[in-house]
Amino acid sequence: AHALPADFAPDDLVSVSRAGFPSEDRVRDIVIDDLAALRAAAEANGTPLVVVSGYRSYDYQRNLFKNRVDQVGEAEAARRTARPGHSEHQLGTAIDVLDPGSGELTIAFAATPQGQWLAANAPSFGFVVSYPDGAADGSCYEYEPWHLRYVGRDTAAAIRTAAVTPREWMLANPAATP
Ligand code: DAL
Ligand code: ZN
Repeated sequence: AHALPADFAPDDLVSVSRAGFPSEDRVRDIVIDDLAALRAAAEANGTPLVVVSGYRSYDYQRNLFKNRVDQVGEAEAARRTARPGHSEHQLGTAIDVLDPGSGELTIAFAATPQGQWLAANAPSFGFVVSYPDGAADGSCYEYEPWHLRYVGRDTAAAIRTAAVTPREWMLANPAATP
């Protein structure tokens, strides 16, 4: 219902190295200042983060989804991986982050010091956990403690206060979403 066109790509993509991360993943330029602040605060807390995914094109996501379907079937793939045109990563405002010692996108991340710090503090820097624990009915996907979407500090605060999933909040407040 809310797919992006196949040819949609942001025109202001820049490397997350601009926010101090040693990675060539890209995000929109509007994300950089708050991403740099998030990185610095996480480091200051002794829980440094790494970025492991940023912007993904429609074609990249199409291959990702197809590979998952080939591995586990369509129903299971769709619980954890977006169809092309439906990934927040195509917006250029979504990132996946982990602790530097882990290469795995698993829910074990939520119990790490990094994951706990992120859950408590990401909204203060304008980032929300798009797919919270036990909320797949509202978010469409299983829990992803590593997946953040940048919505800006005011919207992140409003979503936290409303205590609904970001998707539900955005459907109720379409004009307020970057
Ligand atoms: N894993 C998220 C839902 C994505 O594929 O964008
Ligand atoms: Zn992600």
